[in-house]
Amino acid sequence: MELPAPLRLGVNGLLEKVPLPALKQAAKTLSERYRAELRDGRLHMGEEMAVKAYLATRLPATYAAVRACLDALAEARPGFQPKSLLDIGAGPGTMLWATTDLWPDLERAVLVEASAAVRKVGQSLAAGATAARTEWLAGDATIDLDGIAPADLVSAAYVLDEIAPASLPKLVDRLWRLTGDTLLIVEPGTPAGWQRIIAARSQLIEAGAHVLAPCPHEAPCPLVPPDWCHFSRRVARSRLHRLAKDADVPWEDEKFIYLAASRQPAPARAARVIAPPKTGSGKVVVKLCRPDGSAGEQLFSKRDGDVFKTARRVDWGDTLG
Ligand SMILES: C[S@@+](CC[C@H](N)C(=O)[O-])C[C@H]1O[C@@H](n2cnc3c(N)ncnc32)[C@H](O)[C@@H]1O
Repeated sequence: MELPAPLRLGVNGLLEKVPLPALKQAAKTLSERYRAELRDGRLHMGEEMAVKAYLATRLPATYAAVRACLDALAEARPGFQPKSLLDIGAGPGTMLWATTDLWPDLERAVLVEASAAVRKVGQSLAAGATAARTEWLAGDATIDLDGIAPADLVSAAYVLDEIAPASLPKLVDRLWRLTGDTLLIVEPGTPAGWQRIIAARSQLIEAGAHVLAPCPHEAPCPLVPPDWCHFSRRVARSRLHRLAKDADVPWEDEKFIYLAASRQPAPARAARVIAPPKTGSGKVVVKLCRPDGSAGEQLFSKRDGDVFKTARRVDWGDTLG
């Protein structure tokens, strides 16, 4: 999943004259801060060079992950056409771009972002690029969401990991109250990201939410640590990305986990593929999370006829059945 062409061009323009040593240093610092899930009272993207490092090394991956989550959400609720979006921790506008790519008729978007540096970049990238009336709000999502109107789609992508764990239940509660229809939360596909999603999932189910994706049920998550639920998208690395990270491989696998929860139930629930399928001659083993709340590997062989043909084609993250 590539960035939409106007976004890619805008990003390239912003990165054109950036000195490589400074970009490399900023990318290294950013990566270390993310890996450590550092919460030291400073925003990871508080400064211009950190924002540029994010554009070069993180945006293509978070865009691909967010876009894949929106596809899963749309597949679970085929008629859903949000008119309004409220995105928390908007960064450079990743969710806005992904949402308007899928639903070009989006009419209004409110983007809440604490960092002035990234807000400025997001605003300039999106200027004139979307038909939606777009408003960028400065503020801390843990304290400043009062007075914001509910939206059809509310989202928070790669944000919960930057917020103090003690503040998360209240934030999730506020996001749900602001959700007119569906709430999407995306997190890094790490065990810690999964734990945050699991906690939000329980809280939302308790509040009456219906899980649209990835789980095809509202029973407790059947996975037991050290196993954890996550998905992956392969993302091409630009030349600048490779230079900034001293990376040889022209791609990377972005691991992510998400939860789409709605006020409306999903019309039908199919099992979800929760690991890369293992293919052999005349057989495939698929790890599934099932509508009955169970999870486990299932063997499909030629003897299963059409079901085998379908199972052989599914990928990690797809639905089956
Ligand atoms: C990793 S970035 C993700 C950006 C974007 N959502 C994406 O998926 O690419 C997290 C963003 O959340 C913002 N953020 C972190 N804590 C916040 C808070 N309490 N209130 C508002 N924004 C916050 C950060 O400044 C940063 O821009």
